Amino acid sequence: PKFWAVIPAAGVGSRMQADRPKQYLPLDGRTVIEQTLDIFLRHPRIAGVVVAVSHDDAYFPSLCPVTDKPLQVVDGGAERCHSVLNALRGLEALAHPEDWVLVHDAARPCLSDDDLERLIETLRDDPVGGILATPVRDTKKRATPDGYIAATVDRADLWRAFTPQMFRLATLASALEKALEDGFMVTDEASALEHAGHAPRLVEGSAENIKITRPEDLRLAEFYLAERRR
Ligand code: C5P
Repeated sequence: PKFWAVIPAAGVGSRMQADRPKQYLPLDGRTVIEQTLDIFLRHPRIAGVVVAVSHDDAYFPSLCPVTDKPLQVVDGGAERCHSVLNALRGLEALAHPEDWVLVHDAARPCLSDDDLERLIETLRDDPVGGILATPVRDTKKRATPDGYIAATVDRADLWRAFTPQMFRLATLASALEKALEDGFMVTDEASALEHAGHAPRLVEGSAENIKITRPEDLRLAEFYLAERRR
């Protein structure tokens, strides 16, 4: 089986309070999305990439990613899971149902080659697949609506879910379709797989694989990428 990347990039990124969606903000000499795309376009294991962008996206067409791999662009949807489903439908023309799909947020430009390689190596013989994640390090509190501590949550078995999230094309597509049909709230691909009765695996990755959400995240990403170039 081959390994394909799906990059949902159709969000508006309202929490950045910027003049454009966060994936088009500058980061270490390029835009966030170019940094992210480059990780997959360069990686020898990845057969091709499908990107989901908003239908009225004015920025993506001005980028010119250099690649000899198939790079398909599809319309995004209202929610992230709709964007991913559109991308999977696009991928069906290129890929086999048993091929692996790695879904990765456009807003996570600090994924390292090592983490990507380890995710693929760890899961390539797995019956289901899984995700990059990292154990929770801070103490967790459950809050009351008025801002008091209701309880301290045991963090021993808590993980932070990152991307890529790696599943077989057919399994992922049917899990996402079922979740939407059932009105199940899909926050990541793994949650749809869980809802369909599967047990995805956790593969520990670096905490540097942050999602750009607020302005301070961009400063941190800038630091990580500059440090790796040294
Ligand atoms: O908003 P959030 O940071 O959770 O988005 C995660 C990723 O999903 C981003 O790369 C964003 O562009 C993408 N997304 C999408 N379609 C949507 C909403 C978000 O592709 N409707």
